[in-house]
Amino acid sequence: MRIKIKNRTEIDKLRAANIIVRDVLSLCGDLIKPGITTWDLEKASREYIEKVGAKSAFYKYQPAKTMQPYPAVLCTSKNEKVVHGIPSKKEVLEEGDILSIDFGVIKNGYCGDAARTFAVGNISETARNLMTTTKASLEAAIKKMLHGNRLSDIGHAVQTVVENDGFNVIRDFVGHGIGQDMHEPPQVPNFGRPGRGLKLQNGLVLAIEPMVTEGDWQVDIREDGWTVVTKDRKLACHFEHSVAITEEGPFVLSA
Ligand code: MF3
Ligand code: CO
Repeated sequence: MRIKIKNRTEIDKLRAANIIVRDVLSLCGDLIKPGITTWDLEKASREYIEKVGAKSAFYKYQPAKTMQPYPAVLCTSKNEKVVHGIPSKKEVLEEGDILSIDFGVIKNGYCGDAARTFAVGNISETARNLMTTTKASLEAAIKKMLHGNRLSDIGHAVQTVVENDGFNVIRDFVGHGIGQDMHEPPQVPNFGRPGRGLKLQNGLVLAIEPMVTEGDWQVDIREDGWTVVTKDRKLACHFEHSVAITEEGPFVLSA
């Protein structure tokens, strides 16, 4: 697949889809408290997209024939889970947990995709720092979304912020182009030397998604075939925005 540059009309449609994503993430944020399950969040999200006439971009998503179709509309990744955690009635949130929620929709043929990590009640100082750093790394990356910069400037910005704060970035999963497909080229790594790769241009839309770990960046995949956990079982955090490069600068579609 070739990289697709979007015009103003397409960016407006991507914005509309990403507003739904943003609103579902805030809705989940409002529901999060000790005692609820990740399935409660899944249910509320399903009801919301039904109401606004959008389709999940994740449900039944199957990136390869060898993989099981993804069984939910949300990815809920608690503590040592990095990404692609599957919501469950048995997974109860407890005070001190951190929970990453990743969500995507298709609305009028265009995709939205974003993720946020939430605190459940009071959390440890390390967990708080990990969240602050991951968010800051995403913000630093968004600032690089300028016509004329290079693709690797994005990952370099993420890695610099993260490693300066003593955390690590996941290597095995990356951000991506987004448009009529949730995953379009190019891939957007969260690490690397600056000044390399594709020249960024107006109309390019990317989902930038730093996945950051408290300890080492190596991961395992659970038996369900989806859930990614840190090998050392230390905490992980994930923030994602879909961002368009425009003449007026970076346009954060999912904010
Ligand atoms: N939001 C994820 C991404 O950015 C996709 C989740 S995978 C799925 O790549 F299977 F849940 F859809
Ligand atoms: Co994504």
